[in-house]
Amino acid sequence: MYINLLFLCLCTSFPGFVSIDCGLPDGSRYRDEKTDINYISDSEFVESGTSSSIDPRFQTSSLDIQFNNVRSFPEAKRNCYDVKPLQGKGSKYLIRARFMYGNYDSLDKAPEFDLYLGVNLWDSVSIDNATTIVTKEIIYTLGSDHVHVCLVDKGRGTAFISVLELRLLKSNMYETPYDKLMLVARRDVGSISNDSVRYKDDAYDRLWTPRQLENFTTLNTPLAIDQNIKNSFQPPLIVMRTANAPRKAIQYINMLLEPKDPKGKFYIFMHFAEIVELQRNETREFTILVNGEPIEPIVFSPRFLFTDTLSTKNPASGSRIKVSIRPTNRSTLQPIINAIEAYQVNEFLQSPTHQLDVDAIRKIKTIYKLKKNWQGDPCVPVDYSWEGLDCDQNPPRIVSLNLSFSRLSGLIDPAFCNLTSIQKLDLSNNRLKGNVLDCFAYLPSLNELNLEGNQLTGFVPPKLLERSRTGSLKLSVGGNPGLFLSSSCQETKKTKGFVVPLVASIVGVLIL
Ligand SMILES: *[C@@H]1O[C@H](CO)[C@@H](O)[C@H](O)[C@H]1NC(C)=O
Ligand SMILES: *[C@@H]1O[C@H](CO)[C@@H](O)[C@H](O)[C@H]1NC(C)=O
Ligand SMILES: *[C@@H]1O[C@H](CO)[C@@H](O)[C@H](O)[C@H]1NC(C)=O
Ligand SMILES: *[C@@H]1O[C@H](CO)[C@@H](O)[C@H](O)[C@H]1NC(C)=O
Ligand SMILES: *[C@@H]1O[C@H](CO)[C@@H](O)[C@H](O)[C@H]1NC(C)=O
Ligand SMILES: *[C@@H]1O[C@H](CO)[C@@H](O)[C@H](O)[C@H]1NC(C)=O
Ligand SMILES: *[C@@H]1O[C@H](CO)[C@@H](O)[C@H](O)[C@H]1NC(C)=O
Repeated sequence: MYINLLFLCLCTSFPGFVSIDCGLPDGSRYRDEKTDINYISDSEFVESGTSSSIDPRFQTSSLDIQFNNVRSFPEAKRNCYDVKPLQGKGSKYLIRARFMYGNYDSLDKAPEFDLYLGVNLWDSVSIDNATTIVTKEIIYTLGSDHVHVCLVDKGRGTAFISVLELRLLKSNMYETPYDKLMLVARRDVGSISNDSVRYKDDAYDRLWTPRQLENFTTLNTPLAIDQNIKNSFQPPLIVMRTANAPRKAIQYINMLLEPKDPKGKFYIFMHFAEIVELQRNETREFTILVNGEPIEPIVFSPRFLFTDTLSTKNPASGSRIKVSIRPTNRSTLQPIINAIEAYQVNEFLQSPTHQLDVDAIRKIKTIYKLKKNWQGDPCVPVDYSWEGLDCDQNPPRIVSLNLSFSRLSGLIDPAFCNLTSIQKLDLSNNRLKGNVLDCFAYLPSLNELNLEGNQLTGFVPPKLLERSRTGSLKLSVGGNPGLFLSSSCQETKKTKGFVVPLVASIVGVLIL
């Protein structure tokens, strides 16, 4: 109890952050010294996998301690983290997964595997060597209250993960018509440090990597820069205080992005602030072209100590995406840039299982404490649908659920009736008690219901019996000594005794 309270109060200082140190021992937590962020063990978010420490020789003092442990998944092919952040469906999150192999398995063989966000491929993870840190980041507008991050084996070594972080963003940040943007690059241009900037300098804990443009001049100021409350991006002050500029006023800034996928759609966000106090006769004015297309406003002049963000309105594509910042004819000073970000649209679009089914099956899993490898989406991708259930695809719905011999005890939960596309339901040979639910009779597609071999009591609902008599439903209720058939509710009330006990304990009895 005490620990829970402590956890809650640590949490409230970062309400939009979920910070998971994968492989940290069950139930442990700590405050990171560099960032002051509270990290917790992943044990409550994942049901499979094993924890390991990386090789001690890589556990150096300069390494962020989140990388000291990993969780690896030698068994199942697909393994998912299920995180329910504070703000659910419709909110925008930055989701970051990080990987450092560190030879945790002493095999000296860095693996390759796939990363999924829910039912959609997010990206492939390919690790070069023990000390490479791979970071995958995606900005995602949640389609449900849960975020599922799944690691999928490709037969090229065991999947593992070091860190999983969720950061709540404002809905007007990184606005595009797409709900998933993968980070390609986020650069603190002209940085005079070798370290990335993140929380607390960045309220959203984005990672800004230092980048010095070769043969460019570095400008920097110790002055405060107005973050501009109208600018929702809020790039960190320390990032905005430095910039690069060409040496001569007439030179352009040219930056290239060479995507692996030339058909990919890319969005570029650039952050500017004037950090030199200009003389009266000086002007810094430029035009930005992305693949030759000018960005609005066509003539832009950064404001002194004030942050403005300019971005592409339409996505750019191609094998080389060229960003060119060119001084206008009346500019007396060279163009500058303080920070730049590039994102690629993630266009994998597999619709997930109907939310009603997902909620119902999750509730069933929780209520009956089912120990099954049920992770991620129940029905998709098809190859990884949950054991014991069958689905229709297009749209994905649960059509059959077999929980026979699954040690279910207690009452039949009404959640079963929320599986509104179900055709076959097999709950036989468990320890279910109480009544047969009326609502089964109203499941429109149900054509097979097996409740045999339980401890159910009372009467089989008349409407259900009627469906079984008309042949639209194959109903099996034998082996429930306390369960009775009655021809109808009314008759039961009127004529006591018009109650037929089922042939006791004959498994397989079929009532028609
Ligand atoms: C590990 O791979 C990275 C590239 O990801 C490379 O820069 C580095 O030199 C490699 N380190 C070793 C020890 O091979
Ligand atoms: C950055 O790294 C280089 C090379 O390792 C080093 O020479 C330089 O002093 C470092 N700069 C800072 C500010 O730490
Ligand atoms: C930087 O300047 C040097 C010397 O003038 C030149 O050799 C080099 O190619 C330049 N680098 C770039 C990226 O332009
Ligand atoms: C602006 O004026 C200063 C003197 O006040 C002069 O030194 C400088 O060359 C002028 N710059 C331009 C671009 O005319
Ligand atoms: C700027 O100068 C170039 C070449 O000197 C010229 O072609 C162009 O039309 C000028 N642009 C404007 C807006 O004056
Ligand atoms: C459910 O699974 C059991 C075996 O575990 C099998 O005997 C039974 O026929 C299945 N039920 C349905 C409806 O397929
Ligand atoms: C069934 O779904 C509805 C939402 O459509 C929900 O309000 C209800 O609580 C669910 N019932 C159960 C038993 O989960």
